[in-house]
This record gives sequence, C-alpha cells and structure tokens, in this order.
Amino acid sequence: MLQLKAVSHIDDIPSTPGKFKLEKSPYVNRLRFHYFQSRLAIWSSFLIAFFLFFFFFSSRPFFGSGSLKQWGGPDWERRVSKSARLHSEPGLIVLVTGAAGFVGTHVSVALKRRGDGVLGLDNFNHYYDPQLKRARQKLLEKAGVFVVEGDINDSALLRKLFDVVPFTHVMHLAAQAGVRYAMKNSSSYVNSNIAGFVNLLEVCKSTDPQPAFVWASSSSVYGLNSKVPFSEKDRTDQPASLYAATKKAGEEIAHTYNHIYGLSITGLRFFTVYGPWGRPDMAYFFFTKDILKGKPIPIFEASDHGSVARDFTYIDDIVKGCLAALDTAKKSTGSGGKKKGPAQFRIFNLGNTSPVPVAELVSILEKLLKVKAKRKVLPMPRNGDVKFTHANISLAHKELGYRPTTDLETGLRKFVRWYLNFYPGSKKSGG
Ligand SMILES: NC(=O)c1ccc[n+]([C@@H]2O[C@H](COP(=O)([O-])OP(=O)(O)OC[C@H]3O[C@@H](n4cnc5c(N)ncnc54)[C@H](O)[C@@H]3O)[C@@H](O)[C@H]2O)c1
Ligand SMILES: *[C@@H]1O[C@H](CO)[C@@H](O)[C@H](O)[C@H]1NC(C)=O
Ligand SMILES: *[C@@H]1O[C@H](CO)[C@@H](O)[C@H](O)[C@H]1NC(C)=O
Ligand SMILES: *[C@@H]1O[C@H](CO)[C@@H](O)[C@H](O)[C@H]1NC(C)=O
Repeated sequence: MLQLKAVSHIDDIPSTPGKFKLEKSPYVNRLRFHYFQSRLAIWSSFLIAFFLFFFFFSSRPFFGSGSLKQWGGPDWERRVSKSARLHSEPGLIVLVTGAAGFVGTHVSVALKRRGDGVLGLDNFNHYYDPQLKRARQKLLEKAGVFVVEGDINDSALLRKLFDVVPFTHVMHLAAQAGVRYAMKNSSSYVNSNIAGFVNLLEVCKSTDPQPAFVWASSSSVYGLNSKVPFSEKDRTDQPASLYAATKKAGEEIAHTYNHIYGLSITGLRFFTVYGPWGRPDMAYFFFTKDILKGKPIPIFEASDHGSVARDFTYIDDIVKGCLAALDTAKKSTGSGGKKKGPAQFRIFNLGNTSPVPVAELVSILEKLLKVKAKRKVLPMPRNGDVKFTHANISLAHKELGYRPTTDLETGLRKFVRWYLNFYPGSKKSGG
C-alpha cells in the first residue's frame, strides 16, 4: 500500500511531452526549461521527503531491527501462530531464542518432536558462517519450526511475539558466544548478552501470565576458579574473559528479575558442547577442518606445561538437560510486572564430568578421520581461555534427573559423520 502511494506520486510528475516542445525563441525556451527544472526539483524533493518519512517514522515492524528484513503482517502472524501451536496436551509453548544456533536448533527440534509448540527467534548474525545457520533453519522448517528473523534487543518485536503467542516458557539461547572474539568486537557481547538479555527479561516480566524462563549461562563463569570439580556454589567472581563476565552479569541480572518481579528463572552452565551441526569457531570443529586440509593445528599447553583439558559434553545430553529444566520449571508468580510471591530460582551445571586433554581430542579425531594431524604445541596465550573445566553435576542429577550418556569418542564419531556429509569433498584434499 505504501509503495502504491509512492508510485502514484511518481505518476503525478508533469511529464506530458507536449508541454516541453521546443519553441522558436531561445529565451522562452530557457524560461520554460527553468520552470520545468524547478517543478522537477519540487516534485523530487516531495518524493525524497516521502521516502525519508516512511524510513524513519513508519512503525519499526516494517523494517525489523535496523536491518531491512520485514516482520509483521497477517501472513507472518499465521506462520508464527502455526509454529507455536501445541500438538499434544498438556505441553509447553516455548519461545526459543538463538534457534538457528547450534544448541537452539537441537532443542527446538526435540521440543517440536514431542508435541510442544515452538517458535524460534534468531538474528542470523555473521559471527560465523551464516550459511550454516540457514541450513539449520531449513532443518527447522522441515520439522515445523518457524524462525523469526530479528534481534532480542528489539523490544517492539518481542512484544509483538508475546501478543501473538501465549508462551508458557522461554528457552533463551541467543548470545554472542566465543571467548577470543571479544578482543575484536566487545560491543557485540554487551548488545546481545547484556542489553538484549535485559530487554527479553523486561518483556517477560510485563507479560501476563509471565512465562517461566530457562537460559544458557556458561561454565566460563568459573573463570580462574581452581577447585575441581566445579560446583554451583563455587566462586564465580574471577572471570577470565569478557564473554564470561557477561554471562556472570546475566546470572546476577536474572536474580534481580526473579527477586523483584517473581519470574521463575533457571540458568544452565553448559560445559563445551559439541556434536553435529556444531559451531565452526570451536576447536573440535576447526581441528577437523584443518586436519583434513593438512594444516598444522595448535595444541595449547598451560604455563606449567600441564595439558589443557575440557569437559566435552555431547549435544544430545545438553538437550536432555534443557528439556528437563523446562519440564521442572515452576510457574512464575508475578503478573503484569508485579510479584505475588517468591519464585523459583535455579542454577545447574550441565557437563559430562570427564575432562579430556585437548591432545587426546586430536588423537580421537585422527583415528576417526584416518588422517594424521600436524600438531604444533604452543604455550597457551592469555586471551580468555581457561586451563581446564570439570563439572560437578550432582545437583542437576538430583533435581533434573540429568545423566550424560555419550563419551567423547562416540559423540565425535557422530560429529565426523555429519561433517563429512555436510562438507562433501573436504576429505579428498586431506589425503
Ligand atoms: N556451545 C557451547 O559449548 C556453549 C558453552 C557454554 C555456553 N553456551 C551458550 O549456549 C547458548 C547457545 O550456544 P551455541 O553454541 O548454540 O551458539 P550459537 O552461536 O551457535 O547460537 C547462538 C545463536 O544466537 C543468535 N544470536 C546472537 N545474538 C543474537 C541477538 N542479539 N538476537 C537474536 N539472535 C542472536 C546467533 O545468530 C546464533 O544463531 C549461548 O548462550 C552460549 O553462550 C554454549
Ligand atoms: C560487531 O558485532 C556486531 C553484531 O553485534 C556487528 O554488527 C558488527 O559489524 C561487528 N563489528 C565488527 C568490527 O566486526
Ligand atoms: C541494543 O543495545 C545497545 C546497548 O548496548 C543499544 O545502544 C542499541 O540501541 C540497542 N539496539 C536496539 C535495536 O535496540
Ligand atoms: C558436588 O556438588 C554437591 C552439591 O551439589 C556437593 O555436595 C558435593 O560435595 C560436590 N562434590 C565434589 C566432589 O565436589
């Protein structure tokens, strides 16, 4: 409709050829030409003003969050409602943020498969290959999950989503992940993990009834903590990276929204998640790529020549933990921004409880890929990574029935099978 109006303005430009026929007198000609020019100038400034007006003052929904991607309209709302529809009673109606991400895709598909209503939200940013995010989106579409393209920092969009869908739960997985990227782009961590996080909590607390809120914190909050295994009660006040600091801030912010507004909140501290459809910025992923290419891979050694180890956790185990957290989440107690009573507040480690040295990860990959890696042992740079992680999961076991069942070799075999299938041809160049 807007465009039609604009077009009709273009049609109104006086362009009748007869009016501008060449005349005998050059003076009259010049005059007429001036007249034509000024009319043209007036009309074109009208046109420009018209476009500018719509660009800046039209309601944001037409342009999404700063990008030119559209959201809104009856067709869009139909897709949103359809995706969020329950397929078995009783069930959850879940908004999954970061749905085109690694964990978000797996969690969304798992929820949808058991009959829950699921709506995805993702801004498809370019932190890593957006084509991988698009491929996950295709997978989600096949499973019946619609992913709204937008930002958690966009409150108009979030309010619209909560207007259209009566979400019972929010599974918040959108974040700027990665430890080293903060040295290149610190504001992306602040925008998504702080501003976006608060924005989402604001909309949740104002919704009536309030949804229960489950979100991904990170094992990185343990930072320089050296007491192992990491238990939920251990200190988390020595973050080693901006990423860790924003996750820690998230835990504190979450506490205030629970305390003031009665939001039911569960934070999950994931420990190095890996598996099919994983993140290309993570070591197991780019090691695979580089081993196949015959490129040397850096293996970091701690300053005391100790090995660097991670409590690698398989994606299916993480998904089970997320679903159990959603299923055991109590209702929020507030309504319309007012607290009516104390609400549930929980934090759980979701790990595998068996740290593996990175050198061993490489050995497993060599075996599965049948290619010898070119190892380059280097001292660990002080760029935010910690030496090791090891989860104590007894609390999650007790409260969520969480029990990881996939060891690293079994999980990596599934990852490698997916990788070779998703990137056909990657094997040849490696030999
Ligand atoms: N994978 C791990 O090992 C791991 C470990 C600890 C914690 N986590 C946390 O788990 C969550 C999921 O991680 P992942 O590995 O799936 O990461 P991911 O990067 O694959 O997924 C995050 C998704 O969120 C989207 N996103 C980012 N900022 C957004 C914004 N402002 N608005 C809308 N969408 C936005 C991204 O496009 C991406 O698709 C994150 O919160 C991450 O910090 C992951
Ligand atoms: C930093 O991240 C934001 C997304 O949050 C992106 O828009 C911006 O282009 C990035 N800047 C740089 C320098 O990469
Ligand atoms: C996102 O967050 C930042 C604060 O870090 C803010 O300046 C910016 O305007 C926000 N963007 C949107 C679209 O709300
Ligand atoms: C693990 O955490 C529980 C609390 O959830 C604690 O009682 C137990 O002592 C911890 N185990 C170790 C080995 O630290």
